[in-house]
Amino acid sequence: MTVGILTVSDRASAGVYEDHGGPALRQACQGYGWEVGAEAIVPDEIDRIRESVRSFSAQGCGLILTTGGTGVDYRDVTPEAIRGIMRVEVHGFGEVMRMKSFDITPNAILSRSLAAMVDASLVIALPGKPKGAVECLGFVHGAIDHAVKLAQRLPTSC
Ligand code: MTE
Repeated sequence: MTVGILTVSDRASAGVYEDHGGPALRQACQGYGWEVGAEAIVPDEIDRIRESVRSFSAQGCGLILTTGGTGVDYRDVTPEAIRGIMRVEVHGFGEVMRMKSFDITPNAILSRSLAAMVDASLVIALPGKPKGAVECLGFVHGAIDHAVKLAQRLPTSC
């Protein structure tokens, strides 16, 4: 499986601080035995997020992970960016991520994490905090392989 990792952050993209979310997800992906094929950092801007997601998909990333911009701050637009280009949303991913994360921190209820089919990819929008992003990926890890095969129209076992 080839993965694209997109950090969505005004400040990380401007170099105000170092991006820790992308590297944390890269390490998690490598731990799962996935190849990281594309990485980028963009500001919290709908068009930039959409361009990167579509470009990662065109480059063959069956799984695209975004980190950041899922909350309710005025600049948080990752869900809107993805919903504007998706074929379908896969609601169970967001439901599980919020449910399991709520046991770790009640603030997880503020995350609008989601997953969706965009072009030939499964896109999962994870929270911006590196620990939260890795935790949420772990909660839904078991469903990813099957969902990516469906996104890519590959044969599945069921
Ligand atoms: N989920 C997990 N598993 N662990 C966390 O620490 N942090 C939360 C939440 N989800 C967190 C989490 C916090 S503090 C916020 S504000 C929201 O995700 C939204 O984060 P974002 O706007 O950076 O995407």
